[in-house]
Amino acid sequence: MTENDRAVGIMVLAMSVDGKIADQKRSPARFGSAADQLHLETQIAQADGVLFGAGTLQAYGTTLRITQPDLLKQRQQQGKPLQPIHIVCSGSGRLNPDYRFFQQAVPRWLLTSAEGAQGWGLPQFDRVLNNLTDESDWQQIFRQLAALGLKKIAVTGGGQLVASLLAAEVIDEIWLTVCPLILGGTQAPTPVEGDGFLAHLAPRLELRSAQVLGSEVFLHYGCIQDPKDRQLTNL
Ligand SMILES: NC(=O)c1ccc[n+]([C@@H]2O[C@H](COP(=O)([O-])OP(=O)(O)OC[C@H]3O[C@@H](n4cnc5c(N)ncnc54)[C@H](OP(=O)(O)O)[C@@H]3O)[C@@H](O)[C@H]2O)c1
Repeated sequence: MTENDRAVGIMVLAMSVDGKIADQKRSPARFGSAADQLHLETQIAQADGVLFGAGTLQAYGTTLRITQPDLLKQRQQQGKPLQPIHIVCSGSGRLNPDYRFFQQAVPRWLLTSAEGAQGWGLPQFDRVLNNLTDESDWQQIFRQLAALGLKKIAVTGGGQLVASLLAAEVIDEIWLTVCPLILGGTQAPTPVEGDGFLAHLAPRLELRSAQVLGSEVFLHYGCIQDPKDRQLTNL
């Protein structure tokens, strides 16, 4: 656990060589290899919760369930539920109830505003957290998730949600798979959207590992949360 007992945030994304997480039509990103799919599933299997934005749910209509027998067995041996809790972040609460996601065999939570929570509950969501606002305190939300038993959160996108979480310093680790294709396009989404960071205030990372598998590169970074350490990296 990190300071103040908040949940640990681990971002897991795949991007093209030119830094896009989807094409300009915001199609579901299915450009990762089977190895990348397994990598994503492995990361999800380590987590107590999987957090993603409404835009990501709109793109896919589903979420990634753990299906690998060894990963399921591992969770069982650790006394964890077979599937982590899948949490959709949507301030507006405007989600299509026909998404196949709502039929998937996973526990589902909704993270939304008081207004967005209206009309949602069982059977679509097992729990509705309705304290999201424009000025949300994500440190507090990640403390709340930890208090509810979710100590490790895999953040699976998209760029808008990731931007808020990085700005609030609740992303502790980043897994980024660089996939061998170019998507281009000024409208194509990137791992981090939002207003961006000025260079001298940008979140700083340290590389923990880099693995090449075929033509893909699996990068693992730690996020430097302490401002003193951030300054050191600028020297
Ligand atoms: N390559 C990959 O690994 C990967 C992974 C995931 C997604 N993607 C791609 O990424 C794209 C989607 O990304 P995106 O940036 O458009 O969307 P996103 O971050 O998934 O979702 C944006 C929506 O989430 C809600 N949201 C996000 N941050 C919020 C905050 N701080 N407070 C309240 N609500 C918040 C809002 O929903 P409401 O509007 O309902 O309030 C917002 O419109 C898709 O094209 C998808 O294919 C790629």
